[in-house]
Amino acid sequence: MIPQKMKRILPAITFFSISIICLLISGCDSEEQAVKSSLERKVDSILINMSLEEKIGQTCQRGTSSRVKGELSEELKDAVRKGKIGSMINVMNKDYVEELQRIAVEESPNGIPLIFGRDVIHGFKTIFPIPLGTAASWNPDIAEEGSRVAAIEASTNGIRWTFAPMIDISRDARWGRIAESAGEDPYLTSEMARAYVRGFQGEDLANPSSIAACAKHFAAYGAAEGGRDYNTAIIYEQLLRDVYLQPFHASVEEGVATFMTSFNDLNGVPASGNSFLLKQVLRDEWKFDGFVVSDWNSVTEMIPHGFCADEKDAALKASSAGLDMEMMSTSYENYLKELIEEDKLTIAQLDKMVKNILRIKFKLGLFDNPGFDRNRDDMVLSDEHKEAAKKAAVESFVLLKNEGNILPLTNDLKKVAVVGPMADAPHDQLGTWTFDGEQETTETPLPALKNHLGQSKVLFSQGLNYSRDKSKIGFNDALRTARQSEVVLFFAGEEAILSGEAHSRSNIDLPGAQEELISEISKTGKKVILVIMAGRPITIGNIIDKVDAILMAWHPGTMGGPAIVDVLFGEQSPSGRLPVTWPKEVGQIPIYYNHTNTGRPASNESFVQMDSIPIGAWQSSLGNNSHYLDIGFTPQFPFGFGLAYTTFEYNNLKLSSPEIALGDSLIVSAEITNTGSMAGTEVVQLYVRDMVGSLTRPIRELKGFRKISLQPGESKTVEFTIHTDDLRFHNQNMEFVTEPGAFKVWIAPNAHEGLEADFHVISK
Ligand code: NOJ
Repeated sequence: MIPQKMKRILPAITFFSISIICLLISGCDSEEQAVKSSLERKVDSILINMSLEEKIGQTCQRGTSSRVKGELSEELKDAVRKGKIGSMINVMNKDYVEELQRIAVEESPNGIPLIFGRDVIHGFKTIFPIPLGTAASWNPDIAEEGSRVAAIEASTNGIRWTFAPMIDISRDARWGRIAESAGEDPYLTSEMARAYVRGFQGEDLANPSSIAACAKHFAAYGAAEGGRDYNTAIIYEQLLRDVYLQPFHASVEEGVATFMTSFNDLNGVPASGNSFLLKQVLRDEWKFDGFVVSDWNSVTEMIPHGFCADEKDAALKASSAGLDMEMMSTSYENYLKELIEEDKLTIAQLDKMVKNILRIKFKLGLFDNPGFDRNRDDMVLSDEHKEAAKKAAVESFVLLKNEGNILPLTNDLKKVAVVGPMADAPHDQLGTWTFDGEQETTETPLPALKNHLGQSKVLFSQGLNYSRDKSKIGFNDALRTARQSEVVLFFAGEEAILSGEAHSRSNIDLPGAQEELISEISKTGKKVILVIMAGRPITIGNIIDKVDAILMAWHPGTMGGPAIVDVLFGEQSPSGRLPVTWPKEVGQIPIYYNHTNTGRPASNESFVQMDSIPIGAWQSSLGNNSHYLDIGFTPQFPFGFGLAYTTFEYNNLKLSSPEIALGDSLIVSAEITNTGSMAGTEVVQLYVRDMVGSLTRPIRELKGFRKISLQPGESKTVEFTIHTDDLRFHNQNMEFVTEPGAFKVWIAPNAHEGLEADFHVISK
């Protein structure tokens, strides 16, 4: 018998000797190659000793509920001891983490450590703005810093794997999970994806405070029909590749450790059994070498999808498609052995799956350092982390309206009315996917305002107890409070539970009696400032004219209150821009800026509003274009839109040349001037349009952005480089090409405006 300790270090010794021999014999072309092959040898040195049961065990993930108290079950401990489990999800009791890991490392046949995963989406204890809000910052550093903080905090609990970032392109605000996304644009989402991966994984995955990231949900989950969660996605391949897959590719380039398949079927094939996605695209084309986990039960859910006959069929289809680890459902545990014995799945296929998993466990340093330092609680919710969360919240806010420059407010206000269900809602302002966020540590607007202005100047009357509240019992008091004040700060929105997984809405107005209360308050003649906290754009057509200013604060997280106060009172200027097109009405959805044109594009000249159509008018389609007779064709606010406390002017658009040859670059610049009287931050956006393509091309596509700060009167020249590779798209033969011809370029404050110029791409 080999003693346990020896058993643990044996693979390391074997690996070390093999590495030295290999290095001596072959020499290595590059450092990267050497690291890669040494990693592969480590993986092989373990794999060679594993039994079939143990190999299957690595592909199985089990969970305990985070709320479970009491003892760990003997069945679970025994399964870990026998090497039947590769990963655990949601083990939040530190003693359990330690005990299960100890059993895995000391008592399982090959001492392979478990990997503990958890949804740490926008913070662990220190909660940052929801990802849609973070995307609204148009500042990838914010995403990187937030995910770094999340990794530091989560790893104090033994969590070394998060199921984030969620980088599903979403063009539908009804879909509850738009809150978790970076919005509708592939370029912005890709930049955010890269930043999240850098933040979670740090410079070295083996650092105990780094956690493996997971690019999810692969793929096209955000295209769920009608915004109904889990639903069918039908997307032609070119669009899939140019839009929906782009952020996933970016995350692979950034070194993301894992992928998660999505719940939906894509063009008829559920993602968890989709070999086109998992083999052709992910492995063959992108060379991804981490592992792929299913979503929660998504393997066995291929049965109700009507794609698999039973559990065994589901296990076969998922494993054959290239899905390495099954989350929660147990079809791998129950059937992989049988499938191998029946020669339906080969050992070589299973080995590949196991190697993908072991590779990440090695990269995380789990073999050398399987434990965690449980005494680092001082890192959690530290002042530094809270400061970062506040900064992120400030940068995420988008100023949508500011009539008569009512904002920023001055500090000499005598009485301010604070009304609305989100003024002091510590749980709800954290937003969706905050399993570990605590309302006790959340700072809401109400106390932050009292702190800023002084207790006596803030009159509070909530009016409605929660966002869905329809009772008008509190209206009179709220109105009385409004009348006693100089200005009303109305905190409206959605409770956290109204967005996120399985929480789609068909109507995205403010829920409950919020609109009615806002209307009543506006009748008092007082200035009303509306702050919206929500997980999605909210249709505000009924109230937009009844308020003087609107600040979109998303669900801003732990430090939302003080961040809002800083912006309302001008200590910080609002600098967020919309990462999604904001609809006027739900009926316009899907509405997104980078659509292709029709043969009859909408225009102001041809639009006839339905009330202007004469009664009994002769039936004709002439003069009618692609619009709705009732609300036209424009959104409430375009993608990229956001106001500041100052104004900016765009001038002097310059191109380094009106023509570029394939393979060359073009420099485009413009001068941006702060023409107002306050300092401000502008997000300068670069868009292009390929005028004629072998496939119809979007009317605009974002290709770059810069966030710049300008003092009053100050100008800065912002320069972008466009390489012709940036203009590629998938043509009818699925080749990724730039087609020579005419292009337009804009340097712009949003997707509907900007300075415009033409250039040509010519063949060499
Ligand atoms: C289901 C969700 O779709 C996914 O995003 C999440 O990571 C898993 N559940 C695990 O909680």
